Amino acid sequence: MDRYGVFGNPIGHSKSPLIHRLFAEQTGQDLSYEALLAPLDDFSGFARAFFAEGQGGNVTVPFKEQAYQLVDELSERARRAGAVNTLKKLDDGRLLGDNTDGAGLVRDLTVNAGLDLSGQRILLLGAGGAVRGVLEPILAHNPHALVIANRTVEKAEQLAHEFADLGPLAAAGFDWLSEPVDLIINGTSASLAGELPPIDASLIQPGHTVCYDMMYGKEATAFNRWAAEQGAARCLDGLGMLVEQAAEAFQLWRGVRPDSAPVLAELRRLLA
Ligand code: ATR
Repeated sequence: MDRYGVFGNPIGHSKSPLIHRLFAEQTGQDLSYEALLAPLDDFSGFARAFFAEGQGGNVTVPFKEQAYQLVDELSERARRAGAVNTLKKLDDGRLLGDNTDGAGLVRDLTVNAGLDLSGQRILLLGAGGAVRGVLEPILAHNPHALVIANRTVEKAEQLAHEFADLGPLAAAGFDWLSEPVDLIINGTSASLAGELPPIDASLIQPGHTVCYDMMYGKEATAFNRWAAEQGAARCLDGLGMLVEQAAEAFQLWRGVRPDSAPVLAELRRLLA
């Protein structure tokens, strides 16, 4: 049976084994998928040992940059992201590194939430790995403007500089902005601590602006609670992104696209 798994540390709470088991059942694919606790000091040795037998894997915190270094070949989107979340063993035994996070976010926004990103004024909060990974796929949808705002402005400026060839990008500090935008995506890790990026409420046009937090939880995230209080038209969380990045990885490995809707519904049910 073909072996797959998700590498992380810690890994106990990963939802990926459940998601891929549901995808496999739904598409009739015979495979195993396990949670793999990789040692912090030897990700590459652990991954190489797995791939003596294994066919593919996902990579989560804190190994996405190390996976980028490990692989023999990179997809263009992984190269741009500077991080790898999906590994695939090629027919000749070499390892391919891909990054499906950005495609997962964009699919959740466009297909699941039905948004059209073209011509939109989009604000991205944060300038870490999560934001770097989604810039290329968002810019591919031709927004009117994409502004990266970060607590440490230099990091936003660095990203805007690196991706400037792909579309209309700008960098800002949180307190530089006040004009309403169409879509705000929170890619900071502030929600993990129940904190909020300090942005002005005037960025949300009541009844119009859509807000998306890449984080998710049983309760609405601090950012989404705040956005709802400001009258955001919709407040979406990152559970759909999680399922869609997995669907994209599954397709890369198995050549079939699972239907993500029932899997997302099941995860939502389990979270409640
Ligand atoms: P990830 O891989 O999740 O993106 P990261 O690379 O550590 O993690 O980046 C975390 C991001 O969240 C950064 O943009 C960070 O801002 P700084 O670059 O200024 O550190 C942002 N962040 C974390 N906690 C925050 C908070 N309480 N308020 C605002 N931004 C925060």
